[in-house]
Order: sequence, then structure tokens, then C-alpha cells
Amino acid sequence: MNLKTTYLGLPLEHPLVASASPLTEKLDGFLRLEDGGASAIVMHSLFEEQVLHEEEALDHYLHYGHESYAEALSYFPRAHEYRLSPERHLDLLARAKERVSVPIIASLNGVSRGGWVEYARLLEEAGADALELNLYYIPTDPALSGAEVEAMYLETIRAVVEEVRIPVAVKVGHAFTAFAHFAKRVEGTGAKGLVLFNRFYQPDIDLERLEYVPTLSLSRPYEALLRLHWIALLYGRVGLELALTGGVHSGREAAKGILAGAQVVMMTSAVLQQGPGHFRTVLEELRAFMEERGYESLEEMRGAMSYQKVAEPAALERANYLKVLGSYRLLP
Ligand SMILES: Cc1cc2nc3c(=O)[nH]c(=O)nc-3n(C[C@H](O)[C@H](O)[C@H](O)COP(=O)(O)O)c2cc1C
Repeated sequence: MNLKTTYLGLPLEHPLVASASPLTEKLDGFLRLEDGGASAIVMHSLFEEQVLHEEEALDHYLHYGHESYAEALSYFPRAHEYRLSPERHLDLLARAKERVSVPIIASLNGVSRGGWVEYARLLEEAGADALELNLYYIPTDPALSGAEVEAMYLETIRAVVEEVRIPVAVKVGHAFTAFAHFAKRVEGTGAKGLVLFNRFYQPDIDLERLEYVPTLSLSRPYEALLRLHWIALLYGRVGLELALTGGVHSGREAAKGILAGAQVVMMTSAVLQQGPGHFRTVLEELRAFMEERGYESLEEMRGAMSYQKVAEPAALERANYLKVLGSYRLLP
């Protein structure tokens, strides 16, 4: 059976990729992920704020919102509080490249067009095989329209794509009014891939202390459903490779991802819980599923459950919505 594939033009042994996680904050983590069976590794992000801490980093808060610059600045960790300085980040990437043979995808995380974008080139020079640009931003200003936010994203993507020769994938959250349209415009920037979706981290309220507390809970398999749905909807409709991140814990989610149309599926939470060797377990489960269903290659399987052949997906979505609500039975 052929599990080989490509992602962003990179040849991969199979489609199970390690998404960005703290495991890549040390060289040892890269080695463990490769040993565990990841076919490619996304390095943890280098953040816009980390690169340009006190200079122009927070320009977009002034430019796009009404918040005060000084106050916005005080929310962020100070430069020395980041676990790695930008220079050490580049150095770690270069050392990992020397020791690891699977492709390494560097990750840049920011939203505004600014000097930090030149780090895309520095990551390329340090040896990155591809670049993932993570656009994590919650537009809270009522004066800021969806069109303005999307224009800001597209401008940033274009700036990064222009900076490098390696392929760029874009990682976003799902909160868009017209995601399919946005995806199409991402294609127009020259980016090659779309990574679906960032998880939206929501702080909890501590009722004793009446404080917001940051919470980081690892994902659950049901979170894959939103990603599967969008991958199935976009497959064949946009010229971008689609990567699933969020909720992949077993071969079941991996198989569903490929059937929906994912080029690769990524894991972080399951690997943090079970250890890097979990890649091999999931790969065996995926292989077993393919054998059972008679699939001989990923190409045969990819997109088989997508909406590509549905002429009116929006109508089908509406019809399914009515069916789902109508299917609920009240207890007698
Ligand atoms: C502790 C932790 C750190 C993470 N760091 C990053 C990061 O630096 N950059 C990034 O793009 N995503 C980061 N992520 C998000 C993961 O790459 C992944 O997209 C997300 O956890 C959903 O996938 P999962 O369900 O397999 O965990 C992080 C996730 C966790 C749990």
C-alpha cells in the first residue's frame, strides 16, 4: 500500500505531520518526533511581538483599532520572557535541520505587515523547507469590518510570500463570514496551502477571585468535525493544499481527513498526551482502515467524501441543517 504523499511540494513518507507544539522548543523534541514517526515537523512559532517587541510590533492596534498603544504593549510578555529569542529560534532551526531528515516547516505567527516579515527569509536561510504563517487575531473593534480584516490578512500573506522562495501555507481560525471566498483570495496571494483551523483559546472566569484565567485544554476528537466539514467543502474548489489541524487523535480522524480531501493531517494534543510514538499507532490504524476498504493509495482515497461533486453545497448544507434539527426526538 502506498502511503507516500507530498505537502507543499515536499515528498513525505505518509500524511501524518507534527503541528507546531512546545516539543520543538528543543532539539531533542525534533529527534523524538522524527523517531516517533512524524513525516514532517512544524516548528513552534516565532511571534511578531517577539521579533519587534517595543518598536512597531503593535502598530496594527493603532492602525486598525482604537486601543491605546501603551496599554496594548503592557499586555505582552517582555522580550526576555519568551522562551527563545529570535536568534536562538533561528539557531535551533538550523541545528534541527542538520540532525533531522524529515522536512521542517518553520512557523511565523503575526497579523500586521511590518519589519518582522523579514524573518520569513531568515527562517528560509536557516534551512526551513516551507513556512507556515499563522494569522491568529480576534477583531474586537466594532469599527473594523470583515473586509478590512481580510485585507490586512491578505496584505500580510502577500508580504511573506514575496519574502521567500520556499512554499508558504496559511493557518487561520474558522471565524469568517465567507470562508470559501477568503480561501480563494489566499490562493491569489501565491500561498500554496491552508491549514484549518486554529483553536480559539477562551479564558475562563475564576469565580473565587473574579479574574480571567488563561486555560489551555488539549483538543478532543469531536473538534475534527468542523475541520472535516470545511475541508470537504473546499476540496476541489480552491487551488490550495488543505491541511487538517485540530482533533486528530486516532487513525479514524486521520482517515476521515483524507476522505474529506486533506493533503495531510496534523497532530499536537494527542502527541503531547501519548508521546511522539503515537504517530506510528495512528499510521497503523490508517493503514488498517485502508486495507479493510481496499484503498491502495492515498490519491485514491483523498476527497472521496468531499463535496466536490455537489452542485449546490449551500442548499445541501441548509437541507442537512433542517434534517439534523428535525431528527431530534423528545423523550416520551
Ligand atoms: C501547548 C501548545 C502550543 C502550541 N504552540 C503553537 C505554536 O507555536 N504555533 C502554532 O501555530 N500553533 C501552536 N499550537 C496549536 C497546534 O499546532 C494545533 O494547531 C492545535 O493544538 C490543534 O491541533 P490538535 O488538536 O492536534 O492539538 C499549540 C498547541 C498547544 C497545545
